[in-house]
Amino acid sequence: MFAIIAILPFLLVFQFWVLFASPLDVQVSSNTNSTLSIESSFTPVLPPRFITQSHTSGSLRGSVLLYNGKIHTIGPSNLVVSILAVRDGYIAYTGDDLPEAERTLSQSSSPVRKINLRRRVAVPGLIDCHNHIVLLGNRPGYHTPLELSLSVADVKATYQQRAKGVPKDGWITTIGGFSPNQLKEQRLPTLEELDSAVNDNPIFISTSFSGPATTNTKGREILEREASVVIATNGSIASGLENGKALLWLRQSLLGFEERKRSVRSAMEYAASVGVTTHLDQGAFSATNTSSDGAASEDLYTFHLPWLSVYNDLDGIIRLRINFLHDDTTTENPTLVERLRNTFPFFGNDMMRTGAIGEFAVGIADYAGGPVFEAAALKIAKAGWRLEVHALGENDLKTQLEGFEKVDAEVSIKNLRWVVAHVPRISTDSLRRLKALGAGVNVSGWLYLSGTGNTTNPAGPPFRRILDSGIRGGFGPDGANIAPLSPWPHAYYAITGKNAKGEVINPGQSISRQEVLELFTKHNTWFLGGPDEHSLGILETGRLGDVAVLSEDYFTIPEERIRQLRSVLTVVGGVVVWDSGEI
Ligand SMILES: *[C@@H]1O[C@H](CO)[C@@H](O)[C@H](O)[C@H]1NC(C)=O
Ligand SMILES: *[C@@H]1O[C@H](CO)[C@@H](O)[C@H](O)[C@H]1NC(C)=O
Ligand SMILES: *[C@@H]1O[C@H](CO)[C@@H](O)[C@H](O)[C@H]1NC(C)=O
Ligand SMILES: *[C@@H]1O[C@H](CO)[C@@H](O)[C@H](O)[C@H]1NC(C)=O
Ligand SMILES: *[C@@H]1O[C@H](CO)[C@@H](O)[C@H](O)[C@H]1NC(C)=O
Ligand SMILES: [Zn+2]
Repeated sequence: MFAIIAILPFLLVFQFWVLFASPLDVQVSSNTNSTLSIESSFTPVLPPRFITQSHTSGSLRGSVLLYNGKIHTIGPSNLVVSILAVRDGYIAYTGDDLPEAERTLSQSSSPVRKINLRRRVAVPGLIDCHNHIVLLGNRPGYHTPLELSLSVADVKATYQQRAKGVPKDGWITTIGGFSPNQLKEQRLPTLEELDSAVNDNPIFISTSFSGPATTNTKGREILEREASVVIATNGSIASGLENGKALLWLRQSLLGFEERKRSVRSAMEYAASVGVTTHLDQGAFSATNTSSDGAASEDLYTFHLPWLSVYNDLDGIIRLRINFLHDDTTTENPTLVERLRNTFPFFGNDMMRTGAIGEFAVGIADYAGGPVFEAAALKIAKAGWRLEVHALGENDLKTQLEGFEKVDAEVSIKNLRWVVAHVPRISTDSLRRLKALGAGVNVSGWLYLSGTGNTTNPAGPPFRRILDSGIRGGFGPDGANIAPLSPWPHAYYAITGKNAKGEVINPGQSISRQEVLELFTKHNTWFLGGPDEHSLGILETGRLGDVAVLSEDYFTIPEERIRQLRSVLTVVGGVVVWDSGEI
């Protein structure tokens, strides 16, 4: 009852979106069955390859017939089919019978787009249950992911390509998500190399949370003059303070609200281009507005707003789930208390919805357990919310686990789906205790970029041990800052145990390609919770029609190529939101 009353104003807002938006809606007419023509006087904000042809109640709702594919349903019997039909947002048919698929589409209220997959592999739109994509949508400059680059030449080519779509003098930036370790040269590009790729635009390329960074001549002139950043003649900017000064200046001088919205659209576009259609965001560290802020710092109370505004404009092309991070330092947990009083969990629609408290419930000094942590956990349990915490070793995990157990003795958490994330070196005993609490662990391949390990001391996470324990497991790459947002380098790491340099650092813990894909799809729905568990992750009738058509056959290509996989066609709610033009 209470929930119904509470949800009404929100539904009304969505209705308004629709009313408000309808005069602008792109008119679509399908005058031939296989091609789609768009007649409209409305200039889409997105690049023309995005066709946001259909929104109903603020969600993408289109109809599409994908045929002649190798479509892995990831359903109970792991069926691979050649045809998938999505009708008005929802999967209406999977199988091999074309006339039957067309019959199910005959009552479609949206025009049907028919696409020949030419035997390509398609999978459910991937789900990422732990990343920082909201931060990625608040980057200053024209953010340019370098996650797929394997050499300085790749970086140059990516930047050259990016410069074509950037206004003169516009900053081209890469902040986090990659490491020089993945480049053949094992170093950042120099000023000279960057100049040879892009002259007219200033460049800032920074790694991880706080550098080091590199720039070109144009960028160096501006950063020296405006922000007194110390820059070597080869363009290199030291990590820490110098990187922080540059980043702070870029944020303060570039980041207006419209600029952030452009950054949101660009983050969405990148996510769609690597096939990830649903993202559970895990927040940021509170920004101080000083040079000590790194890539992961933002204003926790305003940085979602440009995202909400893009969804409001009906330009959202991926699904976002939002966790709320809190960093209180006392047992009163003041900001957490206000959050629990004033926010609804799992509130929104299928494009955008609130999630849990996490990945921190308390400040970094107390995250590993103790009174402030336990006070927060108890409040969260009493409010009936989910909690996700981050753990980096057996020591922090052990004290967190004790906290979970204490809380559970007072208020059962068995049905709340509490989660410990990262767990690089989790033991069998901890897994057993977590499982008894109804908790799950969410693994990441973030050690791919810079991790080290060997047979006696593997880097982790122990993928094999976690899966074999039978605990709820999911895959959450932790992408945007310290790790790639693309799931494919993480898949490569879980399958091969190799880091970006090609060294085996996680021996004995490899899992299969199929297992990785299951973690990224059906198993991750448990970590999203709410209605998502029944509507995403598997290609079966009645679920939302989210699909990624891959650039190569994930199941048969040589392992080394897995990390560079992309999506050539991404469908969300039956609407094509990304098309690389390759099929
Ligand atoms: C295309 O649609 C027309 C009706 O508009 C129908 O007669 C024809 O059979 C369809 N062709 C295919 C290949 O579906
Ligand atoms: C650039 O210069 C810095 C400082 O002099 C040095 O530490 C770094 O190794 C140089 N980088 C390259 C790629 O030569
Ligand atoms: C950050 O500091 C600058 C300079 O002191 C100021 O102009 C700006 O308003 C501050 N921004 C925020 C979000 O507080
Ligand atoms: C999954 O793990 C990642 C990092 O490994 C973490 O950031 C994220 O919060 C976790 N997700 C869940 C749902 O626990
Ligand atoms: C494995 O790595 C650890 C450090 O992490 C080191 O102490 C040990 O000697 C290494 N063992 C082998 C066999 O290389
Ligand atoms: Zn994280």
